[in-house]
Amino acid sequence: MKKFAAALACLCALLCGSCAFGDDKPLVVGFAQIGAESGWRTAETDSVLSAAKELGIDLKFSDAQQKQENQIKAIRSFIAQGVDGILLAPVVETGWEPVLNEAKKAGIPVILLDRGIVTDDDSLYVCKITSDFVFEGREAAKWVVKELNGKGNVVQLQGTPGASAALERQKGFEEELAQHPDVKILESQTGDFTMELGKQVMEAFLKKYGKDIQVVYAHNDDMGLGAVQAIREAGFKPGTDIKVITIDATKHAFQAMVDGDINAVVECNPLLGPLAFETLKKAIAGEALEKWIVQKDELFEMSQAAELIGLRKY
Ligand code: AHR
Repeated sequence: MKKFAAALACLCALLCGSCAFGDDKPLVVGFAQIGAESGWRTAETDSVLSAAKELGIDLKFSDAQQKQENQIKAIRSFIAQGVDGILLAPVVETGWEPVLNEAKKAGIPVILLDRGIVTDDDSLYVCKITSDFVFEGREAAKWVVKELNGKGNVVQLQGTPGASAALERQKGFEEELAQHPDVKILESQTGDFTMELGKQVMEAFLKKYGKDIQVVYAHNDDMGLGAVQAIREAGFKPGTDIKVITIDATKHAFQAMVDGDINAVVECNPLLGPLAFETLKKAIAGEALEKWIVQKDELFEMSQAAELIGLRKY
């Protein structure tokens, strides 16, 4: 019904010589955000909020404090408010079918932003706009192998348990390392994508393995920055005694590379706001879309940081 009304609105707009959405009333969109656990996440929120403002979209924003049940509540409230579309950054991969079925029954298109879900029913969402997390993990592993000349020890700081970003970054990393049996993962533990937990877990790793750790692979910058603090407090020189590679490539991590504390970063683009609304408008207009709109990322090393830091947008 909603799709039909939207198509009719667009047809009227076309006949009147203008095809802009919301000529009469602004598009109403619900954004079920995960929380504010990392610098990356804040950059993503800012991107969505500022794009909404620029496009005149009435955005209903919800911060779920990293809890899936809060995201589900937010989606139900968006449905009750009769929004035109929903952007969902799913904290974990599973458990979304019931609420997404409710959105589907209400005729509200849902776009997954930045993380994926696992479901047998792909019709529950229009498409996902994310990075390729497996690729990111593989890139990190290739760098580790190169840095260790094919032999040495790594510890892994994982993201939120059950999150696609964590599971796939681990998968890509471990699959790549499986081809290099002399590079060993001493231990993997979650730091929940936060600086505080990343530091705590790294402290425990340092107590247990000390100088045997040659590289830390952190699933995001914040945990990597926490690990840098732990390494320094344990009396080692981060970036030299223990190498650090992280994912996200925020300005903060670039600064740490300039300072010599982080050795490499794999980019993950959080500036998804404009693309999210452009895609949602297409979905509302009934256009066919790719199921996965992949963001392209690349790896940067410490040696490039000083030159590139001024160009970083987040
Ligand atoms: O889903 C993307 C990940 O979530 C980012 O890498 C991390 O920083 C965030 O919290």
